[in-house]
Amino acid sequence: MPASPAPALTASAPPVVHPAGLCESDTVGARTRVWAFAHVLPGAVVGADCNICDHAYVEGGAVLGDRVTVKNRVLIFDGVTVEDDVFLGPAVVFTNDVHPRAHVKKGPDALSRTVVERGATLGAGVVVVCGTRIGHDAFVGAGAVVTGDVAPHAVVVGNPGRRIGWACRCGRRLPGSGVCDCGRRWRLSDEGPVPATPRTSGPAAPAVSSAGSA
Ligand SMILES: CC(C)(COP(=O)(O)OP(=O)(O)OC[C@H]1O[C@@H](n2cnc3c(N)ncnc32)[C@H](O)[C@@H]1OP(=O)(O)O)[C@@H](O)C(=O)NCCC(=O)NCCS
Ligand SMILES: [Zn+2]
Repeated sequence: MPASPAPALTASAPPVVHPAGLCESDTVGARTRVWAFAHVLPGAVVGADCNICDHAYVEGGAVLGDRVTVKNRVLIFDGVTVEDDVFLGPAVVFTNDVHPRAHVKKGPDALSRTVVERGATLGAGVVVVCGTRIGHDAFVGAGAVVTGDVAPHAVVVGNPGRRIGWACRCGRRLPGSGVCDCGRRWRLSDEGPVPATPRTSGPAAPAVSSAGSA
């Protein structure tokens, strides 16, 4: 599911803002927690059951879905959409202008959009160059720089980010057999993993290399 455009506020379960946190948005979903020194600006849309940790910054125009984890010191600017169940590790930095100049003022329409699809993980210190789409359930390793689109379930590391394998829903890197330690079974191809349907007869599906380009 994409990020919810405008979470419904319920009086029975309002967001919880630490006394030293600053939440200026009135579109923050139920039970979302905003911790000390985190700042959510007016116009930011944040879903329900999110966790926005100390020193995070969520700019107006940013959109977060439900159950998003925003670890400490994450910077999310206008033009960034983060869908449901995404994990943003400590100090993840988004960008929204590919060619910024201090003397060139740009309005919201001039910003490059970035989307992180549902269930993806961005490890600590990831930098996302704007105008990119990070596919659902992708896993970007610590310290990577994302300079282009990331396929769903791709495991990407390095600068520039390159795919080294495929990630299971549980977060582990999949072996060539497509059978994860968590018990899930996947059919692997160059396009990525798809859930394997149980087979009752016939030859086993061939193993496919799990490495390749992003
Ligand atoms: C990307 C990641 C998931 C890979 O884990 P893994 O599947 O167990 O992979 P391995 O540790 O076996 O490493 C596989 C290869 O990728 C390299 N690698 C792993 N993580 C890397 C990273 N973040 N950047 C660059 N290279 C990395 C390893 O050096 C290894 O290279 P080699 O094959 O040449 O020896 C993991 O290293 C990672 O970065 N996790 C994110 C942790 C994080 O930020 N958590 C935040 C919450 S606290
Ligand atoms: Zn798994």
